[in-house]
Amino acid sequence: MKKRLFGRTGWQVGEIGFGAWAIGGSWGNVSEQDAEAALHAALDSGVNFLDTADVYGGGRSERLIARVLQQRGKGDVIVATKAGRGLNPHVAEAYTAAALARFVEGSLERLQTETLDLVQLHCPPTEVYYRPDVFEALGRLVEAGKLKYFGVSVEKVEEAVKALEYPIASVQIIYNIFRQRPAELFFRLARERQVAVIARVPLASGLLTGKLRADSQFAADDHRAFNRHGEAFDVGETFSGVPFEVGLRAVDDLRAAVGTVPMAQFALRWILMYEAVSVVIPGARNPEQAVSNAQAADLPALTADQKNAVKAIYDRLIRPFVHQRW
Ligand SMILES: NC(=O)c1ccc[n+]([C@@H]2O[C@H](COP(=O)([O-])OP(=O)(O)OC[C@H]3O[C@@H](n4cnc5c(N)ncnc54)[C@H](OP(=O)(O)O)[C@@H]3O)[C@@H](O)[C@H]2O)c1
Repeated sequence: MKKRLFGRTGWQVGEIGFGAWAIGGSWGNVSEQDAEAALHAALDSGVNFLDTADVYGGGRSERLIARVLQQRGKGDVIVATKAGRGLNPHVAEAYTAAALARFVEGSLERLQTETLDLVQLHCPPTEVYYRPDVFEALGRLVEAGKLKYFGVSVEKVEEAVKALEYPIASVQIIYNIFRQRPAELFFRLARERQVAVIARVPLASGLLTGKLRADSQFAADDHRAFNRHGEAFDVGETFSGVPFEVGLRAVDDLRAAVGTVPMAQFALRWILMYEAVSVVIPGARNPEQAVSNAQAADLPALTADQKNAVKAIYDRLIRPFVHQRW
């Protein structure tokens, strides 16, 4: 697996990481056996960056990661977790130093470690980016040895740009064939500041695998059933905010450009063409998906024709739904 420097941290991370939301919850049933096997398969394939959160499956995702890393040793594996979504109501005023310290203690316990590698604010309300005290509180947790670095996971490009004013190590943002705006300005600024970029939802929740159809069924506890219109959280997290039928049409148009490789690998390789991206974190619910996704790092770069086809499909079908929203 090719590696990239993760911002100012000095960490060398495999280009393809592992998104551990699906093995926690909100994606229908994923057995413990499949979840553990998916993690092992990713790590065996050279993945060394795992993205999780305290709230994924109510802590299940973090506990599974701890168990697997205990079985094989942590080595150079980086575990990035998140904090903040446990606040109820989830409002800016609730982001206090005490609340953050409490969330961090919870993650330390579940991940069975004395120091967390990276803690990301978990898509906080926009006002939090105008609260220096929140970032100062994270800085004090670093000084106390509870975490090595902190970063943010954002919904909007503007939040990402604003967050660069604080001493963050990383920004996590939705970036994929259906969400291209981060490359316009934000990537340049992040590179200038040596802030790592984590590209999330790289497969548009599975749409960009090419396997979904108009009659695809999702379990009731899969966000692709219950959050299609943003009923539970930001609609941009489900299919990248692209209406399902529109996404399917775009995927059909994409097939000719993709050729014979799996579309998921093509979609991941497209993201890796951007040097500002430090790591891409596809989710996987079983070992087969994890291995296939890791292999995307070995694909040759896309041709000019393929890149142009992707841009044309985005401009024609997708852009009107997403470009100015996030
Ligand atoms: N607010 C935040 O900070 C936030 C929000 C969202 C995500 N994230 C992070 O980003 C990660 C990735 O995003 P995501 O999981 O939402 O979406 P994603 O990576 O775009 O899609 C993942 C889903 O696509 C399907 N899939 C993956 N690889 C496949 C393959 N090779 N072949 C066929 N199907 C495949 C799987 O679902 P099926 O098999 O069921 O189709 C899998 O659960 C998350 O795990 C999480 O770590 C963070």
